[in-house]
Amino acid sequence: MRTLVHISDLHFGRVDPATVEPLTAAIRALAPDVVIVSGDLTQRARSEEFRAARAFLEVLPGPQIVVPGNHDVPLYNLAIRAFAPLRGFKKYIAFDPEPGYADEELVVQGLNTTRSSTWKNGRLNGAQLEKVRAAFERAPVGAVRVLVTHHPLDLPAPHSRHDLVGRAARAMPVLAACRADVLLAGHFHRAVSGDTSQRYDIRQFAALVVQAGTTTSTRLREEPNSFNLLKTSTDEITVDRYLWRPSEGLFASQLTERFRRTADGWRRAPAVVASAAEDVVVGKQMP
Ligand SMILES: [Fe+2]
Ligand SMILES: [Fe+2]
Repeated sequence: MRTLVHISDLHFGRVDPATVEPLTAAIRALAPDVVIVSGDLTQRARSEEFRAARAFLEVLPGPQIVVPGNHDVPLYNLAIRAFAPLRGFKKYIAFDPEPGYADEELVVQGLNTTRSSTWKNGRLNGAQLEKVRAAFERAPVGAVRVLVTHHPLDLPAPHSRHDLVGRAARAMPVLAACRADVLLAGHFHRAVSGDTSQRYDIRQFAALVVQAGTTTSTRLREEPNSFNLLKTSTDEITVDRYLWRPSEGLFASQLTERFRRTADGWRRAPAVVASAAEDVVVGKQMP
């Protein structure tokens, strides 16, 4: 079994400062095998925002798989936007915007879906699909294969294909061929999980889709700050959603969703909703 903490859309520059230390404490207490950050570390790709994001990452456990989001590309500096869009990300966060991780039970590949030519929407290209294909085809038998992007490859209704990363439909057969298991993304600041079988009718294939909300920012979309904890094994994956409780000053697990591997790919198993008495609280600061 492997544990992954999935945070996203931190938006340093628009962070709710109350969330940061409890989040750090929660992640350290969970001691995950991998920490995943699916983009939008900053609000406007300013140096001071990247520095704050860097300081935040420094106190989290590793390894860390961090990919950029559209907010990590400068909006107004057109020269940098055109010729060095990831300059700040590479300087302060990670030189490689498409990092990978592999052990005998877990393979993770990050891809950069940001593009200079579009502000909000992202895109994938053939070289990137080749990169993920190569990584997943090298994976040991039974290892869970996780793709991390900022812009999602799938979203539940009522989202249309226009909300998805560019060329998502072209990517899916490649991901099916290399047996991708989990697609992690952010961007919409809404936490939701499901599988790809509704949108993509691919024989004997459905990947698990896990969207993270915004973990620390005030750019909320009618739901609290949150992050995901995934526990992965060959045939079962659970997704725990930790929600921010401002009155208590902590993140607590409030929803656990289970997914099982079937002959047709990943499918949801009966959900377990924790009662208030069963809430899992981690990293609580001692008074
Ligand atoms: Fe965002
Ligand atoms: Fe975004």
